[in-house]
Amino acid sequence: MNIILVGMITHFKCRLDVYPRSSVERFPVPDDKVSWAVDYKEYRPRNHTAQSIHGKPWADPEIGDPEFNPNWNHLDKNVDRQSYTGQYKIVDSYPLNPIGRTGIIGRGVLGRWGPNHAADPVVTRWKRLQSGEVEKDNSNKPILQFVAIKRGDTGEWALPGGMVDPGEKVTKTAVREFREEAMNSLVMPQGKINICEQKFESFFSNGEEVYKGYVDDPRNTDNAWMETAAYNFHDDSGHVVGALNLHAGDDAVGVTWVDATPDLQLYASHSSIVKEVLKRRLNAFSSV
Ligand SMILES: *[C@@H]1O[C@H](CO)[C@@H](O)[C@H](O)[C@H]1NC(C)=O
Repeated sequence: MNIILVGMITHFKCRLDVYPRSSVERFPVPDDKVSWAVDYKEYRPRNHTAQSIHGKPWADPEIGDPEFNPNWNHLDKNVDRQSYTGQYKIVDSYPLNPIGRTGIIGRGVLGRWGPNHAADPVVTRWKRLQSGEVEKDNSNKPILQFVAIKRGDTGEWALPGGMVDPGEKVTKTAVREFREEAMNSLVMPQGKINICEQKFESFFSNGEEVYKGYVDDPRNTDNAWMETAAYNFHDDSGHVVGALNLHAGDDAVGVTWVDATPDLQLYASHSSIVKEVLKRRLNAFSSV
């Protein structure tokens, strides 16, 4: 499914039976009942907001709380309540998932009502042989590799992204998350990371936006959903970040270079994002 990159038409992963980290079952939503434009009289979604998010500094209060007056569809103080998908609707005071039904109302484990903004860095290099030459696959195409981390919650490989802090620039989030999630758990042969700060800064100031929009994330609900901006940072020479010898540590903090193959399976919409990066990098490679 690559439709996410031409604008998400429907969602799948947020319609699967049980909500993550809970035993709350989603009300079944068949493909033809996802759209809010289609009547679904039998629709009785469960109301689920995880106990764990209550009172968290990154979480909104309940709707109806007299202290909570969100400015939907706007930059609300420094919380970005705008959606990349355009204006979302507010129905009975609740923001409505722009893609459609998910079988659950409430926020689940998401902190914000409406869009929850994340940023995903796709850090890439060409796979190289001992000789330094770029390694080719069976069809003589160069092999692209990207940095992936193993998620502690699902055990799936994912991009080392994370949530945008209030007031933070999205590109900054992508770099900060890469440092926090990937660099901090690096295991180097020499035992320490030796990458010049200046080189690092300039490398990460040259990201290319590859996706901005809704994410088909298993945590989405009818009233709260994930959106992301993904940036590709490509080390063509392999001399900057590409020189980092990542390898998977223990399961919780695994971080490694993964070959970007067309049949790749990653968390949420990350496969589509990596496939888009692969397409762009291969095009750029063959036009050199
Ligand atoms: C969902 O449950 C919360 C309490 O957890 C409640 O405040 C809210 O009004 C409920 N929403 C609806 C639409 O019933």
